[in-house]
Amino acid sequence: MIKIAPSILSADFARLGVEISDVMACGADYIHFDVMDGMFVRNISFGIPVLASIRKATDAFIDVHLMIEQPLRYVQRFCDSGADLVNCHVEADSVENTRKALDIIRSCGKKTGITLSPGTKADAVLPFIDDVDLILVMTVYPGLGGQTLLFDQLDVVSGVRKIIDERNPGCELEVDGGITLETAPAAIAAGANVLVSGSTVFHSGDRAATIRALRAAGDGPIL
Ligand code: DX5
Ligand code: ZN
Repeated sequence: MIKIAPSILSADFARLGVEISDVMACGADYIHFDVMDGMFVRNISFGIPVLASIRKATDAFIDVHLMIEQPLRYVQRFCDSGADLVNCHVEADSVENTRKALDIIRSCGKKTGITLSPGTKADAVLPFIDDVDLILVMTVYPGLGGQTLLFDQLDVVSGVRKIIDERNPGCELEVDGGITLETAPAAIAAGANVLVSGSTVFHSGDRAATIRALRAAGDGPIL
């Protein structure tokens, strides 16, 4: 079953609670929450107080994508503020510190994730494969919504799918960036089972139909 995780980076922030309720009512599975620190990526988005506010307003599963340096410094606070899953980039710290971050997330009773940016090979997941609930492969350079999918990244998705199937078949495989009705079939064919989508969902005139079409993208031609 394909899951859809709308990224609220493309939502209307002045109406964030309503936007989240709307995409959940339209059939979304997760809410994808993109945190940017102006260091790991150039942009700054939103962080802990916004997460805490959202948590009070929705029961949705919140998938927190930390695009921040040394996430170990903050994972406890994101867990305490309502994340359901916290995802750390493998490029953002040493293997040892990333392991410590994952241990904290798990000890908080939350799900763990790691993310690979373009340029990082699939086997970078190996030190963590037994300890993660989800692996996110970026299909754009992190830091901005509305970019075009980098098709070379689908080779990384296939490589990670192989490792997951061999070592931790329960682990989810998420893709993020440039997912549209046109690109979703290729991402699913490469092995993804969770599709993050910001602009495609939030800018759609019919969000329920768009979410349905994204989810069905693995079933064959959709346009
Ligand atoms: C990019 C973020 C994405 C972004 C995706 O750094 O991690 O989650 O919002 O946006 P779209 O779907 O518009 O490419
Ligand atoms: Zn993201």
